[in-house]
Amino acid sequence: MNYQAVIFDLDGVICHTDNYHYQAWKQMADREGIYFDESINSRLRGVSRMASLEIILERAQRTYTAAEKEALAAEKNEIYRQLLMNMSPADLSQDVAATLRQLKDAGVKIAIGSSSRNAKTILRQIGIFDWFDAISDGENITRSKPDPEVFVKAAGILGLAPSACLVVEDADAGIRAAHDGGFHSAGMGDACGNDEATYSIIAFHELSDIVLGKRMQNGPVTE
Ligand code: BG6
Ligand code: MG
Repeated sequence: MNYQAVIFDLDGVICHTDNYHYQAWKQMADREGIYFDESINSRLRGVSRMASLEIILERAQRTYTAAEKEALAAEKNEIYRQLLMNMSPADLSQDVAATLRQLKDAGVKIAIGSSSRNAKTILRQIGIFDWFDAISDGENITRSKPDPEVFVKAAGILGLAPSACLVVEDADAGIRAAHDGGFHSAGMGDACGNDEATYSIIAFHELSDIVLGKRMQNGPVTE
């Protein structure tokens, strides 16, 4: 099927800031003496900053007040933003850049649907802020993935129905959000093989064939 728009998650899809999130949380957790590893980190994909902190604090030895939690989240964000300042257009892969251009040239709208409040900073750092027709991010939502709000708002800015848009995600929470919002989705990275995803992709450029209608969805074709 053809899609009129593609809504991309950012962290772990357009660029590898997912690793910076891990490094920043790890520094905070180590200093605080809280156990944290890659497998706990994978539960944070697509989840808002404060909800991520709550998951990390499941392993804490004591309870934290609301003010302490605010301070820990702010500390992590400071470390994270320092890491982001090292990003440049060199952090945009050839595969992602060429695919986005190909979609735009074919008249397909492109949008961001990210839980991050740092999304616009990242897009500016890697030089593609003005490539997008819509940016829906942590600043315009009240509910984080797996709630569909961020994608529903992106589709709303584009003026399109969810059924006309494909969501691209590396998080199980994001695939659930797409599914519940009535969007088809492509799962990659951690979400490659997710049963709720319409497609699974290994390489970003596979999206061109999917969006332009040259590739069928996973499993039985229903339309
Ligand atoms: C998502 C990431 O894109 O943004 C999560 O997958 C992160 O790991 C969330 O917690 C919020 O990001 P930020 O930049 O607002 O702390
Ligand atoms: Mg992601």
